[in-house]
This record gives sequence, structure tokens and C-alpha cells, in this order.
Amino acid sequence: MIRTLKQCPAPAKLNLFLHVTGRRPDGYHLLQTAFQLIDRCDYLDVEVRDDGLIHRCNDIPGVPADSDLIVRAARLLQAHGGSSLGANLTLHKQLPMGGGLGGGSSDAATTLLALNHLWNTGLTRAELMQLGLQLGADVPFFLFGENAFAEGVGEELQPLNTAEDWFVVLEPGVQVPTPAIFSAKELTRGTKPVRIADFSSDAKIHWKNDLQTVACALFPQVDAAIQWLSQYGQAKMTGSGACVFCAFADETAADTVLKQVPDRWTSWKAKALSRHPMAQKLGSKNIWLEA
Ligand code: C5P
Repeated sequence: MIRTLKQCPAPAKLNLFLHVTGRRPDGYHLLQTAFQLIDRCDYLDVEVRDDGLIHRCNDIPGVPADSDLIVRAARLLQAHGGSSLGANLTLHKQLPMGGGLGGGSSDAATTLLALNHLWNTGLTRAELMQLGLQLGADVPFFLFGENAFAEGVGEELQPLNTAEDWFVVLEPGVQVPTPAIFSAKELTRGTKPVRIADFSSDAKIHWKNDLQTVACALFPQVDAAIQWLSQYGQAKMTGSGACVFCAFADETAADTVLKQVPDRWTSWKAKALSRHPMAQKLGSKNIWLEA
């Protein structure tokens, strides 16, 4: 029986657009968005424990172990799957927090995938996605396995072919608290729904991130980063911010822009992924497929 998985990738996502189309009675917002996986990742080491304890082995500044989504994900799966086994979790954090890149959600999804395999709990992808939704609206996407058009609060997913692109991502140097953006009274909540079939058409040029105006008003650093990157193409914010990005046709074009970025911002390039490197291991019959 395998006891450890090392360096399990938890990739980031970009929201290629994000429309707020309504609000549910519980306050959660109805969205339409395109989730794009990129090759920038956190990495997770997982080791089975026989005593049933879930232990995070490393300190992560600002994230107490008990409220960490990876610990909560492990406990949820343990309770739901009826496992008596526990786990040591070590998270190598590379993705910024409060960045709109889905890092925490992706970490939780990778935890569920790794432990479902190591503990042999045998949950299907659909069951894992349902559990994941209890942890956050973006978690089901990271279990889905490929780029997606999302509706509902982000859990109704359809596969989406996106153009293979390179991206330049800027970190504006602030952490944006997602609830503050969604609860702002200035937020537009009635964008007319678009059709997935139009995603590859010219119409999508007009598809924006509805959270961007509010985030830019509250955090001028985000606005400044978008203004700067807009010189080179259609710059947008991802998720509820803070990170902003712009797509490029090839790596050379991305490198050229990266060289120009002022020192005050952390910036990097990322390649679009077509599949999630971890989630694709869960085959259609719920069998773990080693790459
Ligand atoms: O689900 P997640 O924990 O990522 O959401 C953080 C907060 O963002 C929620 O508490 C809610 O205030 C807001 N949110 C929302 N509608 C969504 C997703 C998030 O209102 N679809």
C-alpha cells in the first residue's frame, strides 16, 4: 500500500471573464466564468498516519492550521469516507494569498484527491466535488480536471476549450478579501447571461470581470497594475483580485513584457494548462491512473 505522495501539484487558475448574474437568498452570488488552469502551483506532500490525526507539518504565516482548507478538507473526507487513518500534510506555498488565483481552493482539492487515493476511500469525482463545495465555491472546479465554463456559484461545470496561451501575471502587493468585494453595495449583480457557445466568438472580447470595478475602487494598487498592463493587451483581474493578467500568443511576447515590469510589482509568466495534472489521475471508473 502506498503511504506517501510527494510534490502533488495544486495549480492556480485565472478567470478569463467573470460575470455576476444574480444573488441567491443565502447571499452567495450566481456567476458565469471561464476557469483557466495555469502551470504555476503550490505543492503538497502527504503521508498516511495510522493514529487518525490530521497534522499540518509546517507553519504558514496568517493561516492557523485548524482553519487551513487542507486540514478541513482532510477532516471532511475522513468523516465522509469513514477512514480511521490520518495524515501528515506539508504545503509548499508558492501562490499568493488573497490573489484571486484559487490557491487555497486548489490546495484543498489536491488534498482530497491525494487522500482519496492513499486512504482508499474510493469516492467518485462527483462525490469529491460535492464535498469540495462545502469548502469553497472554487473547489469543485479544481477536482473537475480540465478548463471549464462555470455557472451556479461556480459548481456547475462544463468542459471548455480555451486557446493555448501564455500569460503575464502581476501581483499588485495587496491581499483582497473576497467577501468585501462580493458584499460591496456598488457591485453590479445583474449582468445578462452569456452563452457558452459564444466563448470562441468575437463576442467574448466584451466579457469582463464584474468584480474588477469594486476591487479597483477599494484597492487602487489593483487599478494601477491593470492600467500598466493594459499597454500590452486586454488586462483583467482574476477572481476577486488582487492579481491581474494579460494573455499573449507565445512565450517570447510574454518575456518581452515581463522585462518591462517596474520593480514595485512581483510578476511572472505562466503557461495555460489544458488538464489538471493531479485531477486527471482520477479515471472515469474512479481508478487512480499513474501518469
Ligand atoms: O466560497 P468561498 O469561500 O471562496 O467564498 C468566499 C466568500 O465570497 C463567500 O463567503 C461569499 O461572501 C463570497 N462569494 C459569493 N458568491 C460566490 C462565491 C463567493 O458571494 N459565488
